[in-house]
Amino acid sequence: MLRRERRSVLGVEAVGPYTLLRVARGGLDPGTPGQFFMLEAPGRLLPRPMSVCLAPPGELGFLIDPVGSGTRALCGLGAGDRLGILGPLGNGFRLDVERPVLVGGGIGVAPFPYLSERLGAPAPAAVLGFRSAWHAEAAELVPNAEVVLEPTYVTDVMPAGHDVLACGPAPMLEAVRRLAARAQLAWEAPMACGYGACYGCAVEIDGELKRLCVEGPVLAAA
Ligand SMILES: Cc1cc2nc3c(=O)[nH]c(=O)nc-3n(C[C@H](O)[C@H](O)[C@H](O)COP(=O)(O)OP(=O)(O)OC[C@H]3O[C@@H](n4cnc5c(N)ncnc54)[C@H](O)[C@@H]3O)c2cc1C
Ligand code: FES
Repeated sequence: MLRRERRSVLGVEAVGPYTLLRVARGGLDPGTPGQFFMLEAPGRLLPRPMSVCLAPPGELGFLIDPVGSGTRALCGLGAGDRLGILGPLGNGFRLDVERPVLVGGGIGVAPFPYLSERLGAPAPAAVLGFRSAWHAEAAELVPNAEVVLEPTYVTDVMPAGHDVLACGPAPMLEAVRRLAARAQLAWEAPMACGYGACYGCAVEIDGELKRLCVEGPVLAAA
């Protein structure tokens, strides 16, 4: 049974333009990479979905891009502050792959540090695309990463013959899907509840409405 918990912030660190928010894990299960938690943003009615970025003992780390009021409020938290947290939610990446390559763009790299760790040694190859060298500082969290900056795209350098696990903006995921029909793709949609109750995250897939928070966020490309 899922329960919203209150947890302490352990630290807040800048990673390029992003913020790494480190939260005390307590008894929370970090889940499978690609799963997410709903984080209550101070002063905001609705929580915001965030992928697990890091899960060292006793902690959950979330890499946050401050794109709006909720994410800015989360990035403004400080050590010792408390926040509500619910999860892990949704379906993560399948880890039973033979030749993984992680393909991501921008804040889409957020789930990759934990995903890389859970795929085990040797660290899987990663191809990460960013719009600037400042944004690319996030690649330092991902072992064995090749970085490309715009106007080069990850799909220009993505190796063939691998099991692709991808996360990033929708146009990037569409381009990956055209090249790798068996890829696993982590999609985004605005989410209000995170557990299937509100239909706020419904997307049409093959003519059927699916709630991305329960059917996804990771979906098979085909
Ligand atoms: C499963 C999942 C995992 C996510 N993981 C991360 C993560 O690890 N790190 C991170 O920084 N962000 C992540 N996001 C995106 C993050 O939840 C949104 O950026 C955040 O909710 C925006 O809230 P806001 O109040 O700051 O911005 P708002 O003011 O609500 O929106 C700012 C802008 O972003 C757009 N937007 C808002 N939410 C989404 C969304 N989910 N998808 C596409 N566009 C959106 C709005 O239309 C608007 O243009 C994830 C989203 C999902 C669904
Ligand atoms: S976010 Fe409420 S149903 Fe998916």
